[in-house]
Amino acid sequence: MKKSIAICPGSFDPPTHGHINIIERSLRLFEKVIVAVAFNTSKSGLFSPDERVEMLKALFKNQKNVVIDSFEGLLVDYARKNNAGAILRGLRTVPDYEYELQMSLANKMMAPDIETVFMMTESAYSHISSSLIKEIVRFGGSVKGMIHPLVEKRLKEKMKKV
Ligand code: PNS
Repeated sequence: MKKSIAICPGSFDPPTHGHINIIERSLRLFEKVIVAVAFNTSKSGLFSPDERVEMLKALFKNQKNVVIDSFEGLLVDYARKNNAGAILRGLRTVPDYEYELQMSLANKMMAPDIETVFMMTESAYSHISSSLIKEIVRFGGSVKGMIHPLVEKRLKEKMKKV
């Protein structure tokens, strides 16, 4: 691979075990992975971008090849600015594929020099999404095995469930 820097962009509201798994496995392919929290998506978030960055920094504090950052504006501009040759995204389901295909083709038209690389989720995490987790916690269910205990604590505090 020519440029061994990948950007792993997302909302991360909040980060899940699925995200962590994809990022950790991607380090077999890339020398450096920049996990980038997007500021201006159409989704309204529970956590502020700064809170998400802070959680991700805590989750990857022992991983020197993972850099946590946030960005505003177009992903391809951010990727170019950081000299990244790849955009890394995890895939779980068929609806994911449709959404991801559209985004990757649009990004490819804007930036033909940047490749989108998809990694299939591990089966243990294929049903996990940030939205599902927020709903489970909101109604008092268990999210054991879905998110890191630190994220669970922050989520419960945020939803006043502690
Ligand atoms: O975790 P998400 O919400 O699925 O991540 C979506 C994200 C942040 C990757 C996407 O919305 C994005 O790239 N936003 C930045 C703005 C941009 O470049 N939009 C055009 C994408 S084709």
